[in-house]
Amino acid sequence: MNSKNYLVTGGAGFIGSALATQLLKDGNTVYIIDNLSTGYLENVPQGAIFIEGNCEDESVIEKLNAQFFDAIFHIAGQSSGEVSYDNPVLDMQANVQSTLVLLKYAVQTGCKTFIYASSMSVYGDATKLPVSESDPTMPKSFYAVGKLASEHYLRIYQTFGIKTVALRLFNVYGVGQNMNNLRQGMASIYLAQALQNNKIVVKGSTDRFRDFVYISDVVRTFIESLKIEIPSGIYNVCYGDKTLVSDILNLITQQLNNGTHIEIIDSTPGDQFGIYGDYEKFEKTFGFKNEISFRNGMIEMIDWAKNKK
Ligand SMILES: NC(=O)c1ccc[n+]([C@@H]2O[C@H](COP(=O)([O-])OP(=O)(O)OC[C@H]3O[C@@H](n4cnc5c(N)ncnc54)[C@H](O)[C@@H]3O)[C@@H](O)[C@H]2O)c1
Repeated sequence: MNSKNYLVTGGAGFIGSALATQLLKDGNTVYIIDNLSTGYLENVPQGAIFIEGNCEDESVIEKLNAQFFDAIFHIAGQSSGEVSYDNPVLDMQANVQSTLVLLKYAVQTGCKTFIYASSMSVYGDATKLPVSESDPTMPKSFYAVGKLASEHYLRIYQTFGIKTVALRLFNVYGVGQNMNNLRQGMASIYLAQALQNNKIVVKGSTDRFRDFVYISDVVRTFIESLKIEIPSGIYNVCYGDKTLVSDILNLITQQLNNGTHIEIIDSTPGDQFGIYGDYEKFEKTFGFKNEISFRNGMIEMIDWAKNKK
């Protein structure tokens, strides 16, 4: 087997730990940097080499000893639009400065592949749906500004001979998602509330809609991005379907059947009303489509969450 050396930032979080687990299963060496702000040590897969700290902190990056990585997956970041309003400077450091520090590390150490967890939030309130990569961007939150800025830094670093892939993740959900974080992850927030209190507090209209993409499809996309056939660029990572908040609530309440009631309060700042993605560019380039429908993925997640201690 052709074993490679990878850096996965955010590997104690939901997406990063799932990716790191798969890379290790495939026989690779995996380094993880994570500051454990929303991640957990228990999520760090066995076999990974773990460094605790901020990715934007040069003294943390020095702990890598200038070693060569076949690719850097930059997944760490402050992951909530809502939380970005608490401290925009911290959000910028976690989401933008970290990207620059790691891109600089890539150039210095000869790493030629940089894969980034961007977000559909860069579109803001899309002018047309489904939204495609060539449509205008107009971030509505501090978080989204940071993701868009990082995408531009990636583009500029292509001129240093690095392949950079920015994956605009839509709503990622599934087994392993953080059920204690009630400020990030629409499906996980509703499900956690329903399980804990028999009550879901919805921040904003139930007519809002999203495009849900299952964690295993996302992990597959990150790994396929390494392939030589995938050029530098920006790609929507979505299922291509519109799921209303009311659809999510119905599915959860039907599946749990525990008399969960719903309360609707004001929306959070910077929240997009409705978005779903066009996957034509993704499908043409990657040669596959994301597979797991929201209904199937959510039923799997509900089963997992119900049995979770
Ligand atoms: N989950 C989604 O629906 C979604 C959608 C679009 C984009 N993203 C992006 O994907 C990435 C992973 O999201 P997730 O859902 O796994 O969230 P998560 O909160 O579970 O993971 C983020 C991880 O990064 C770590 N972290 C945060 N700031 C850090 C820093 N400055 N230095 C080092 N580690 C830091 C956290 O401790 C956590 O383990 C994030 O960048 C997020 O913005 C996620």
